[in-house]
Amino acid sequence: VDPQIQALLDLYADATKLYHHFLVNTAVGEQALDYLHERGLDDGTIDAYSLGFAPTGDVLLKYFEEKKIDYQLLRASELFVTWSDGTLHDRFNDRVLFTIRNAKGQPIAYSGRKLTSGDDEPKYINSPESPLFEKSRELFNLDMAKNAIRKSKQVILFEGFMDVIAAFQAGINNGVASMGTSLTPEQVHILNRMAESISVTYDADSAGQAATKRALDLIAMNSQLKAQVVHIPDNQDPDEFLRSHDSTAFTNVFVHNTEDPVAFNIRYLQTDRNMNNQAEVFAYIADVLPVIASVDEPLIRETYLAQLSDAYHISLAGLQQQIQPLLLAKI
Ligand code: UTP
Ligand code: MN
Ligand code: MN
Ligand code: MN
Ligand code: MN
Repeated sequence: VDPQIQALLDLYADATKLYHHFLVNTAVGEQALDYLHERGLDDGTIDAYSLGFAPTGDVLLKYFEEKKIDYQLLRASELFVTWSDGTLHDRFNDRVLFTIRNAKGQPIAYSGRKLTSGDDEPKYINSPESPLFEKSRELFNLDMAKNAIRKSKQVILFEGFMDVIAAFQAGINNGVASMGTSLTPEQVHILNRMAESISVTYDADSAGQAATKRALDLIAMNSQLKAQVVHIPDNQDPDEFLRSHDSTAFTNVFVHNTEDPVAFNIRYLQTDRNMNNQAEVFAYIADVLPVIASVDEPLIRETYLAQLSDAYHISLAGLQQQIQPLLLAKI
């Protein structure tokens, strides 16, 4: 390993221990620990994920300065922000820290969540890219989930850290998340090498559903993974659902509240369209026909076309004619 990379890995390992110590052993971290307990996390989970607390007052900087760590190394780590006078200051202040680890389990970045809602600071602040952290190539929890994913050939894709962690605590250990930024081709390639199927289990809100649409398209273009969409009931995210239900109820959702990508698209592409307006119906048909054309089985394609014909009172023969060039383009 490159000596600078090794030095940075050592720095993150140290920082993670310090932040975890503040969370679990000190008065300054008490409020953050209460917060995590109130969110349903137990001490075993808090340990397994090396969750931490970053106090105010440049504690990390002081800790590393006492250890005489080189300024340039500290700067390269991105654990600090550089002020215009060149001085370094802790990047994370008064935040609960989710430690982001690479596939080997080494800490390489953090995401810091504020404890209170209301002020206009962003809810999560993430580490920027660094020599250790290339965002588009990392998946949160891959280190802990990889064996379960390889064994079951199934991976669950969540939206948030808390969703992954709540699932893990409930005994569902093949979950990963893509860390705020939307899913990337690189992340899909990684999962494609390990799994055969993927369950996209994003939040039920409109942002989550829009992200689901993007994820499905990306998965279809970049992998052979068989995808399904999992719908969490009651407009909740998986973490909220798991706080009020047991893991059996959660597993049931995975069996009964799913949709294949074609059905998802046929439904989702209607979003924000007035289906009483003929022009909007035709615009919808133009969007949805390529989705139906992507289905290999003629009988299933015909069934979808018949459903469209029924639902919008449009000619089945017209639909069949309009899908023809798309089918020919497939061959
Ligand atoms: P959500 O808003 O759904 O957050 O964003 P969450 O995971 O449910 O968080 P809690 O339960 O309120 O703590 C989903 C993901 O988007 C990223 C984070 O990775 C988060 O987990 N995100 C969200 C950011 O990076 N920055 C933000 O300000 C908000
Ligand atoms: Mn501990
Ligand atoms: Mn969300
Ligand atoms: Mn959420
Ligand atoms: Mn949440």
